[in-house]
Amino acid sequence: MTAPPWWASAVVYQIYPRSFCDGDGDGVGDLSGIRSRLDHLVRLGVDAVWLSPFYRSPMKDFGYDISDHCDVDPVFGTLADFDALVADCHARGLRVLVDLVPNHTSDLHPWFQASRSSRYHPMRDWYWWRDGGPDGGPPNNWVAAFSPDPAWTFDAATGQWYLHQFLPEQPDLNWANPEVEAAMHDVVRFWLDRGVDGFRIDVVHGIGKDPQLPDDPPEVAGLPHVPLNDRPETHVHLRRLRALLDSYPGDRMMLGEVFLLDTAKVAAYYGDGDELHLSFNFPPLFAPWKASAWRRQIETTAAELDPVGAWPTWVLSNHDTVRHRSRYGSEARARAAALLLLGLRGTPVLYAGEELGLLDAEVPAERVVDPGGRDGCRAPIPWDPTHGHGWPTDPWLPFPPEADTHNVADEWADPRSTLDLYRRSLVARRASAALRTGAQRLLEVPAGVVGWVRTAGADRRVVLVNFSDEVVDLEGTEALAATAGWQVEVASDRQGEGSRFTGQLGPDQAVWLRPG
Ligand code: NOJ
Repeated sequence: MTAPPWWASAVVYQIYPRSFCDGDGDGVGDLSGIRSRLDHLVRLGVDAVWLSPFYRSPMKDFGYDISDHCDVDPVFGTLADFDALVADCHARGLRVLVDLVPNHTSDLHPWFQASRSSRYHPMRDWYWWRDGGPDGGPPNNWVAAFSPDPAWTFDAATGQWYLHQFLPEQPDLNWANPEVEAAMHDVVRFWLDRGVDGFRIDVVHGIGKDPQLPDDPPEVAGLPHVPLNDRPETHVHLRRLRALLDSYPGDRMMLGEVFLLDTAKVAAYYGDGDELHLSFNFPPLFAPWKASAWRRQIETTAAELDPVGAWPTWVLSNHDTVRHRSRYGSEARARAAALLLLGLRGTPVLYAGEELGLLDAEVPAERVVDPGGRDGCRAPIPWDPTHGHGWPTDPWLPFPPEADTHNVADEWADPRSTLDLYRRSLVARRASAALRTGAQRLLEVPAGVVGWVRTAGADRRVVLVNFSDEVVDLEGTEALAATAGWQVEVASDRQGEGSRFTGQLGPDQAVWLRPG
């Protein structure tokens, strides 16, 4: 048997560089700040970091609008800072994933500047330019993300419209043009040559387009086009990208953001083991704190991914979504969710700050800066209880609530903190092949609870999550019969941890059980 690849058993930690740690005192986090905090990640016990974009950017979408893919924006530092960060991560055994944004560039990227300069410029076809529709309006009915507006902007100078699935300042690249694909492969090589272990690939399902650019059907017209774009062309590009990664030594990998809200469709982006290594699967991210909803997500994920040999991923929070503590409504639930996330079969992706149990910041209207209104989950990480929370000057967004208690320094000092729960869970996960890469089978449990067993050879663990706000007794269930005499290895509220399992789960409590 071959050992599973590193990314199957890894726990990935997403850093949104603006919000993590400010090394140069301008109120915006940066690469040197991240470098100064790597010990936090090592102590927490994660295996890989994914850095959201730090490339040159006009920051209309805070870095997802790139004007130079092969340089670091001065707000984040320099290429030398990046190299030093990679070296420091690798020295600590942390892998580094960087964000690849292949679907669009900034409108200020030299490629787009050239493309828009004239209808006859040789780079015109690097982007999607079309004449207007018969009524003089946009070429089709596609709608952009973050707005009810068309995914097209008219360029008066050349009299045509260009496509942008996101902001008008984020024109879509035309991957049907082989020069575009070659240019993006050069970008990928640039970062692989600098030693990155892989890429998180932004809206990767968007790169292939129906060349006819037909209207979206009436039943979905008016919705953003992004989650609807599911095209065979993309798979061709992914296979070539995979071949490029495979030509490098050392298990380089890609984790795609396939923002299709249907797990069956997501499964196709793993190809025949020749496309993405991993893909995000967003339906669980949007599932409510409800046993029936989560049971369905777990069943659907297994039913769609297992048969095609696709390794799942799980995520509860990120820089685009309200944090799960805010969504689920309590810290007790957020803590139980940590054991859910880290106990499921697949690669978990943590979002910086969830290990502290952070809430979204309440951002007053005058401080909202994101066109998509995602400011709350991007609040700066509080490093300590002082007024500035370890930030040398006022950060670009307000701190989350409770930063006086929910900060890195205080939580490391408190064995009851959410941070210590994540640490203990990751220690337990690292020590158990069953939890890392074992098989998974759902157990019969009472309503309000979801439970499963993980198995790898003789190693076994059981995960039980009580989604209800009542005590649940497992007397007479398969779950209890299967765990007779077992110990509570980790409990989300620490109740019973280290003792024999009583067969009862507290409200919103999750436990990991191990044979006694
Ligand atoms: C998905 C990213 O996660 C999001 O932050 C960004 O706005 C869009 N893609 C566009 O790049």
